[in-house]
Amino acid sequence: KNGNNNLVSKDSMDDLTLAETFLKQKNYNKSLDAFDPILKRDPTNVLARYGKAKALDKLAEQERSNQLLHKAIENYHKVGEQRHCSVELRKAAYLRLADRASFLGSHKKAMEVLEKLVKESPTDVNILNKLGIQYLLIKQNSQAESTYRKVLEISPDDGFAQVHLGFLLNTKSQYHEAIPLLSAGINSQQPGTDAAKFYLYLGDALTRVGRKSEANSVYNNGVIKGYFLSEWQRSLYNVDRLRGKPWWNAEETGYLSSVRLLEKHWKSILKEGLNILNQETAGFQRETENLRCRGDWKQFQLYVRGQRNDDNCKRAPLTCSIINQIPEAKSNKRGQVQYSVMFPGTHIWPHTGPTNCRLRLHLGLKVPSAVSIRVGNETRFWEEGKVMILDDSFEHEVWHNGDSLRLVFIVDVWHPDLTTSERAELFPV
Ligand code: LMR
Ligand code: MN
Repeated sequence: KNGNNNLVSKDSMDDLTLAETFLKQKNYNKSLDAFDPILKRDPTNVLARYGKAKALDKLAEQERSNQLLHKAIENYHKVGEQRHCSVELRKAAYLRLADRASFLGSHKKAMEVLEKLVKESPTDVNILNKLGIQYLLIKQNSQAESTYRKVLEISPDDGFAQVHLGFLLNTKSQYHEAIPLLSAGINSQQPGTDAAKFYLYLGDALTRVGRKSEANSVYNNGVIKGYFLSEWQRSLYNVDRLRGKPWWNAEETGYLSSVRLLEKHWKSILKEGLNILNQETAGFQRETENLRCRGDWKQFQLYVRGQRNDDNCKRAPLTCSIINQIPEAKSNKRGQVQYSVMFPGTHIWPHTGPTNCRLRLHLGLKVPSAVSIRVGNETRFWEEGKVMILDDSFEHEVWHNGDSLRLVFIVDVWHPDLTTSERAELFPV
């Protein structure tokens, strides 16, 4: 009775209805038991295959099982593979597959099925927008860019494509083109466009083309949205109740003895830093976050996210032994310990650190004149052998207008308001 492959027999139809009813009732195991015999009789039955995939998907979520999720993905795959599967059903199966594969970190797999869907429906902007995200996740930025440009050709007011293209242009320093896109995208209020990061990118782009007051009003809107702690304090990984202000003195932090220890040994710390700087072998690494307006700025890291870098510590043993006596620094999973060298003629754009959970001790080591740092709206100057303490979750900006290199030693410590258990439990940043 199954002479014609495109038709499903009356019996299978009834069985299918029953299986789908179990699925609707969230009786996932029972529905699987009902889908399986249908598929045994006819492995190409796409509706049963799709039902099975959905049941496995739901079950995977319920039991938090990656193994079940892999099975679900396999079944979504089989749905889309069938040539007689309708375009709509293939789209539903592959979109869910892409979402789940991406969740498991298989961005390539997600990308492959989305590319197949695009071949079939080349002007479907929903699919193109999702494909763009996968390209971004695997850092294929130029593919992402052309995907979002394609969306905007088809649908010029697509806010999702606008914010993402704006972001991509920002990373290429094409701020003039990025600004109207980010701004229109945020204002579109379409899903996925109203996020803290887009406010940050827009503010950044405006700042860099000299429109700082407009940047500040973008940041203020971000505060109203609840994205930022304040116009000045724009870190995204925050513990909300912590006291926040740009500059601190040592007494207020409770870390006075650590500050004194660093100041006592400043000459040894300087000596080890200069030594590394003068060695031929690569040591200091150039800043990679595109924060330099002009000039040159490099770091040598001893601790990162609470992990000691053993190779680098071998090159600054005394300095690392000092840090080893500062628990609030060496255990700080939300900061670093590093030398920072800056050369004459450098200007660092205003920027904000990622978290309000740290304070930053700066020990001046080699400080020529005409070198300064603004945090919030107060500018200060380093002094050799002295620690100054700033909260880098506040906007800060640095200038080196002197004529010889500046070297400082940066020690990030936990924000003093964090409890012991918070320090232990916060995820690293
Ligand atoms: C920063 O934290 O961005 C700067 O203050 C670091 C530096 O080297 O001045
Ligand atoms: Mn900084």
